[in-house]
Amino acid sequence: MASQSHTFGFIGLGNMGSQMSHNLATYAEKQGYPKVQVWNRTRSKIEHMQKQSYCEIADTIEKLVQKCDIIHTCLANDEVALSVFRQILAVGKQNLILVDHSTLYPTTSSTLQAEAEDKGSSFMSCPVFGPPAMAKSAGLLVALSGKDSAKEIVKEYIVPTIGKGVIDCGEDSSKGALMKILGNNCILGTIELLSESFTLAEKTGFDPALFYEFIQVWFPAAAWVNYGKKIKDGTFSGKTGFTLPGGMKDASFIRRLGAETSTPTPIIDQAWNHLTTAKAIGGESLDWSACAAGMRVTAGLPPFKGEDFSLASKHTNGVNGEANGSGKDH
Ligand SMILES: NC(=O)c1ccc[n+]([C@@H]2O[C@H](COP(=O)([O-])OP(=O)(O)OC[C@H]3O[C@@H](n4cnc5c(N)ncnc54)[C@H](OP(=O)(O)O)[C@@H]3O)[C@@H](O)[C@H]2O)c1
Repeated sequence: MASQSHTFGFIGLGNMGSQMSHNLATYAEKQGYPKVQVWNRTRSKIEHMQKQSYCEIADTIEKLVQKCDIIHTCLANDEVALSVFRQILAVGKQNLILVDHSTLYPTTSSTLQAEAEDKGSSFMSCPVFGPPAMAKSAGLLVALSGKDSAKEIVKEYIVPTIGKGVIDCGEDSSKGALMKILGNNCILGTIELLSESFTLAEKTGFDPALFYEFIQVWFPAAAWVNYGKKIKDGTFSGKTGFTLPGGMKDASFIRRLGAETSTPTPIIDQAWNHLTTAKAIGGESLDWSACAAGMRVTAGLPPFKGEDFSLASKHTNGVNGEANGSGKDH
């Protein structure tokens, strides 16, 4: 079946969205579609994209909507998503396909689906699994949910353009959001367990590099290998990963689901405490693997090894902590 031409939009070009929109632009160019319209709250962060990608920066969300029929989004949190989608729908254009990759609470996705359908458009919850590096190589796993008619159109390109696979969670968009939260329960649980294991290795005098060899051989899955390396090395910069506020948002979703259904979530409760400690010591720009820094403190170890991310050292040095990348334990 010959595919119909589309004009894509992409809103929210942060750590994840910048990679995904670039891949979407490459696809649009190959298909001979119009340039992808992009919009980001902080325009200065995406000025370079017009040179590097087959895209055009839209001055406003309204102008982007007027040119597009399929709009992808990847936004920080529920409040931002509600605000952005209401601006999209306020334009009054019908038959839009809205493909949201943000991690949102299921009831927020349901609200957005109802509001979009009320205005004659489709909303799909399409959260993704994988860090920015995987988004760059289009290696994400996408949980798709929304009306079948819209899903069929998106399925024509989403693999291999944005991801390497999809799990179809049905027509109710809250189910895609729920799948993402359940998956994150496993990922944050893995980070918590790795934090504990590497701390125990260090406290018992076992070489963390040797223990990491075991992780690579015995748990050869992306979350174990990638977060294991960050925790082994203490490389907790959130610039190319998932920041503590984002990680804590997702942890709060898991705990809220637990509270609402009377399901204990003890591993995530512990991770929450360690993330809170890490944020207090190192600030919001850390990656959520800094959970390990919080764990180390509870075991009487200094929070950081390798680069010193502590807020105190930034204030002392007047730099972003980067001057302390001595490679030594502190
Ligand atoms: N990073 C990961 O590993 C990962 C993996 C899977 C899923 N996710 C999910 O993907 C989403 C984005 O994550 P990310 O890591 O890309 O976060 P990020 O780098 O912080 O990007 C957040 C995006 O939201 C925009 N934004 C924030 N506040 C806004 C506002 N008030 N109005 C309009 N736009 C606003 C930001 O614009 P500015 O540039 O102007 O700040 C940016 O484009 C989140 O829902 C996250 O849970 C992340």
